[in-house]
Amino acid sequence: MKIDILTLFPEMFEPLKASILGRALEKNIFELNLIDIRSFSLDKHKKVDDYIFGGGDGMLMTPQPLYDAIMSVKTDKSYCVYMSPKGTVLTQNKVKSIANDVDHLIIVCGHYEGIDQRIIDLCIDEQVSIGDYVLTGGELPAMVLADAVLRYVPNVLHSDTSVVDESFSDKLLEYPQYTRPREFMGLSVPEVLINGNHKEIEKWKSEQKISETKKFRPDLLDK
Ligand code: ADE
Repeated sequence: MKIDILTLFPEMFEPLKASILGRALEKNIFELNLIDIRSFSLDKHKKVDDYIFGGGDGMLMTPQPLYDAIMSVKTDKSYCVYMSPKGTVLTQNKVKSIANDVDHLIIVCGHYEGIDQRIIDLCIDEQVSIGDYVLTGGELPAMVLADAVLRYVPNVLHSDTSVVDESFSDKLLEYPQYTRPREFMGLSVPEVLINGNHKEIEKWKSEQKISETKKFRPDLLDK
């Protein structure tokens, strides 16, 4: 999997290079390129935004630097996503389908009031939102999408069961989990998890998945 992220603020992406993804990146398990849109501006002051035709607050990213930045990486096989609150809301199924179907993901981050509509019309395959709220730019959403997709790349996570046995993988939330010590601040690890009866443990986990989902996300059960 190769991901190219186009942004005015490449320095915002340091968190993607830490921890699990950082280790996978060092081992070349996936490729991540941060492309500075401003470096493509043909303006002598490297300007990348301008006033909005027809009025409206704020500034819009101009098409030229964005178009040239996208064209510098796009091939027939690329899938180009623009992070936007107008997009389809990201779900685990959407993440899985991108991870399965896409080898080269281009993620375009807008800033200010967003990008010129002609870039969306000319270059974007899909607009993706990370939820019904508005952020100052597409950088945090791009990190959310990249992180969620990269977890499905083989060998990024420790074992392949990590992505199977987790919240949303079967439309249910994960069961509560415990580690040592057996007792902490007067609270004990449930006895069933300690007694070594695997059948009972599996039964407990299934029941807990249903009760956790009922408690925290009953809407998932309605679906
Ligand atoms: N840009 C600003 N807000 C966003 C959101 N909620 N999802 C994706 N991109 C965004």
